[in-house]
Amino acid sequence: MSTQHTSISLQPIDPKEALSDLPSRVTTDRFTVAAEICMRARDDLARRGYKPDGEKQLRSFGFWEITTYMLPVTAQHLRRVLKAHPDLPQGTPEKTGGAKMFTLDEVNTIRDFLESEGQQGKGYRPYRPKDQPAKIVSVCNFKGGVSKTTTGAHLAMAAALDGYRVLVVDLDSQASMSTMFGVMAEDEGQTAYSILARHHAEHVARSMGIDDLTSDRLDDEIRDAARVTADDLIFGTHWPTIDILPAQLNLYWAEFQVPVWMQTHRSWQFWDALKSFLRDENLLSDYDIILIDTPPALGYLTINALSAADILLIPVGASFIEFDSTGRFFDMLYTTFVSIEDSMSRLNDAAPKFSWDAVQVILTRYDDAQQSELANVIQVYLDDFVAKHRQEFTALVGQAGERVSGIYEASHTDFNRDTYRRGRETFDRCYHEFKRILIGCWERDQIEAATQEGAA
Ligand SMILES: Nc1ncnc2c1ncn2[C@@H]1O[C@H](COP(=O)(O)OP(=O)(O)O)[C@@H](O)[C@H]1O
Ligand SMILES: [Mg+2]
Repeated sequence: MSTQHTSISLQPIDPKEALSDLPSRVTTDRFTVAAEICMRARDDLARRGYKPDGEKQLRSFGFWEITTYMLPVTAQHLRRVLKAHPDLPQGTPEKTGGAKMFTLDEVNTIRDFLESEGQQGKGYRPYRPKDQPAKIVSVCNFKGGVSKTTTGAHLAMAAALDGYRVLVVDLDSQASMSTMFGVMAEDEGQTAYSILARHHAEHVARSMGIDDLTSDRLDDEIRDAARVTADDLIFGTHWPTIDILPAQLNLYWAEFQVPVWMQTHRSWQFWDALKSFLRDENLLSDYDIILIDTPPALGYLTINALSAADILLIPVGASFIEFDSTGRFFDMLYTTFVSIEDSMSRLNDAAPKFSWDAVQVILTRYDDAQQSELANVIQVYLDDFVAKHRQEFTALVGQAGERVSGIYEASHTDFNRDTYRRGRETFDRCYHEFKRILIGCWERDQIEAATQEGAA
């Protein structure tokens, strides 16, 4: 046959031949087989070193990076301080004769020292008013692939490098965030599913007039659910100041279970579960920032993230399709929260309305050469709803490799210094703009609290 020069699009397909290659019809059993095969392959790949969630270790930091990005001192000054205070961490060379390197814990020890001994008001430790709770930040958009997880992870890491304590909450059953931080929940019991179950259990007990959650008038299931605490769900990561409440595939069960629970308990305010948990378990004082990653859907988990949030970040690419879908996301947010507010006001005339400290659309994976016109138009339309800085597309995110997650985990020595500076700068700017909002929100809360105190 002379099909050599015909393009693939024009090559004829013979039905009989096509059938001869076709495997038999697929029944559900086949999926179990596929799952087993994937599990075996997964172990094999893990043995070959491909597993990203093996033992993760955070790299260490040298003088250049510490004094360029982490502490507002010159390298000479830092050297002088360390020399004068031999009890401070002195750094350890990674190879003989190499430059001295510091762990993040060691940088934080030096940070604390400078904060207490150094020039006052220099901001060695990042601002957080003493009496204000942590800010809860949710990264949402019902579109997948818009950089929710990447943006959230980079903000968490940038905040940790800056000296904040961060709790990351992974509400996506695909668990990319958990993988990035090297922590995997064993089952739904170690995920936010347990938070919803506990909140439901407390509601059930209350509706039966039972205060004691260990009472044997309650079902075992309810009693077990009510017993879950932060200790059961929060894990440390390879970042000393980032903890995570991880996800796992079964977390998705929440989307089926919540409506079942709601059928028998119509007045259960499921959307309050995460917020109550963070508050009741004292997490708002244990951490400075609580960063929630959400699945690409507006389900019960995402509604919890939205209702808990003080600050809402909505990543979106500067493309027509993504912008269009973000418009529909706002529309659904409106419908969803108005209907929740309505149902609350039916139960209680004085029910509070939802409000958020700040909402920011962040243009992500931005390519100035291709997208500036569209991005400018979006910026004009959305005005102060959209962040000024656009998170640029950078190969460093993908290139950083399997063992490290994103720019902050990769070492500048692995890249050309200029490429590194540019890639890092776009995420640093993103964080800086976010931090301004964070600090502004805390300041507003402080002033309002002082005014209320004055009035009382
Ligand atoms: N600024 C960026 N530059 C380059 N690639 C990016 C950037 N942000 C995200 N990505 C890539 O885009 C893909 C989707 O990002 P992800 O954060 O998983 O999106 P989502 O959580 O919204 O589904 C990932 O492969 C990620 O590495
Ligand atoms: Mg994601």
